[in-house]
Amino acid sequence: MPLPESLTCVSCSAAYREDPNQYSCPKCGELGTLRVSYDYDRIRASASRDSLAAAPFRDHWRYLPLLPLAAGPVEFPLAVGATPLYPVPGLRKALGLERLWIKDDTANPSASLKDRASAVVLLKGLELGRREFAAASTGNAGASLACLSAALGLPCHIFVPESAPRAKVAQLLIFGADVLSIRGSYSEAFSLCVEASEYFLWYNRNTGYNPYTVEGKKTVALEIAEQLGWEPPDTVVAAAGDGCILSGIWKGFVDLHRLGWISRLPRLVAAQAEGSQSIKQAFDGDGAIRPVTEDTLADSISVSLPRNGVMAVQDLKASGGSAVSVSDGEILEAMPLLGKRTGLFAEPAAAAAVAALVKLAGAGELSRAERIVVVSTGHGLKDVDAALQAVDPPAPLDCAIDAVRERIHHS
Ligand SMILES: Cc1ncc(COP(=O)(O)O)c(C=O)c1O
Ligand SMILES: [Zn+2]
Repeated sequence: MPLPESLTCVSCSAAYREDPNQYSCPKCGELGTLRVSYDYDRIRASASRDSLAAAPFRDHWRYLPLLPLAAGPVEFPLAVGATPLYPVPGLRKALGLERLWIKDDTANPSASLKDRASAVVLLKGLELGRREFAAASTGNAGASLACLSAALGLPCHIFVPESAPRAKVAQLLIFGADVLSIRGSYSEAFSLCVEASEYFLWYNRNTGYNPYTVEGKKTVALEIAEQLGWEPPDTVVAAAGDGCILSGIWKGFVDLHRLGWISRLPRLVAAQAEGSQSIKQAFDGDGAIRPVTEDTLADSISVSLPRNGVMAVQDLKASGGSAVSVSDGEILEAMPLLGKRTGLFAEPAAAAAVAALVKLAGAGELSRAERIVVVSTGHGLKDVDAALQAVDPPAPLDCAIDAVRERIHHS
């Protein structure tokens, strides 16, 4: 199995070997996220498209030869990954896009894409000799680490801003995590979690800080490529907060391209909320990540200083992609559009990607025959209060057939 060959700083290009006490480049601090690379000849010797075709599509451990883990085979108690890629005919028709798919990552155990990263980080932490885990989270990364730690019987400590949506906090508590509800923003909770992890020697899963979160998230791209018969999409749209999902998607396609399993790379579109668009501003401007105010109902992408922002902007540029910002109103319109046209329920952050798609389609920036995948990253039931802002509640009816007749005839 491929141990990482090297970890390279996105800001200064310094290369490092794996070290359980070092997550980022010490010279560049919070801008020093590390990219993981492998010996691709070695991977080619142990796996191929044909070897995958011979194995059932059960979970994302089928890509173990492309993951930074020495151990194998993996016995994981819950099924992470292997989520559906739906052709969504209703949404295709509504938007005039003939080759559109939704990758429904809400089908993961804790109902978000974050499980892919948590699963890899947990196994990596165990491999590095750690037995206790921690994460700061806007909600989903924490819920995910709590869920998968519980399945593995491992303790974890989750730092959340006190404003985190109730359903996500409920998940943390039901999964038995030690919940530290911080009077402060996500960014402040993030820094505190790093400090506490160093002090208590917890293995830290923070997004955009632990380099293996990108490696875990890349399995979504590996699945998309395999589900499309190794003919990658032209465009992949995903929501960006810290920018780690975006970089994970890019890394997955880049790894496959290096292996020669796909012949070209897609362009990426980052969907950001207007009230939290640091990555978009950096992408459209001078590339520098600057803090912004966090002001959007899409809590999962409400991020002041994106911790994986430098890498995400580099990846967006490398893909020839773009960044699109959407208002909370547009997100609230996208939620029922997706629901009515597909039967899929996305939380606001995930629906931001659909809103970005609608915006691009409306502006004529997508061609009819373009092969597009939108990644649905988190389930709508995680934030019911937001969902209820997107719809009109029904007026109560008298419990009588006349009232039903009246209501049906006049609606
Ligand atoms: C549902 C959902 N979508 C998108 C994102 C954004 O991911 P990232 O912070 O890696 O950009 C998150 C992160 O919490 C999320 O939970
Ligand atoms: Zn550096």
